[in-house]
Amino acid sequence: MPSLRFEPPRDDATLEDWRHVHNEIIPADPLSPDDVRERVTRHHLEVAYLGDVLVGCSTVRPPKDGTAMVIARILPAHRRQGFGGQLYERGVERARRLGAEVIETIVLGVNADGLRFAHQHGFVEVDRHVADADEVWHTLRLG
Ligand SMILES: CC(C)(COP(=O)(O)OP(=O)(O)OC[C@H]1O[C@@H](n2cnc3c(N)ncnc32)[C@H](O)[C@@H]1OP(=O)(O)O)[C@@H](O)C(=O)NCCC(=O)NCCS
Repeated sequence: MPSLRFEPPRDDATLEDWRHVHNEIIPADPLSPDDVRERVTRHHLEVAYLGDVLVGCSTVRPPKDGTAMVIARILPAHRRQGFGGQLYERGVERARRLGAEVIETIVLGVNADGLRFAHQHGFVEVDRHVADADEVWHTLRLG
């Protein structure tokens, strides 16, 4: 498997790459550059590259009452090569190092690949928020 390079977004270019992946995959919640600059102060963000090619990004929301949130995102053109698995595993390791006892993820329902991935990795749905017919948010917990 080709190896990915993982970067914490620390300048405008990498923050913009993180934002690009997020907004491509989560069109229901588009973030502005300022949103991302604020988010990076609260969450652990990573950007994944294959050589110089942007392939994905991740978010780890640090534990609150023992529960952390881990979200991996891979652009559709780069899926099914194991990259999502790598990004997700790094996120879980980070969350555990931060003291997480419980790991959750959140998936926008239109992302069928994301729901299947979460189920295959042992997550079960614990909450569902229906904002709109095309905007159903599934919260899943690692069993
Ligand atoms: C979830 C997501 C990150 C997975 O990314 P990915 O790069 O496709 O993930 P992987 O390649 O590790 O695994 C996906 C599938 O490809 C398979 N796969 C991995 N390497 C493979 C290879 N070399 N050849 C063929 N299949 C392969 C995996 O076994 C897995 O199969 P499964 O779905 O039947 O379990 C991606 O679909 C995504 O960004 N979804 C939207 C965001 C989201 O909802 N994220 C929340 C989940 S944390």
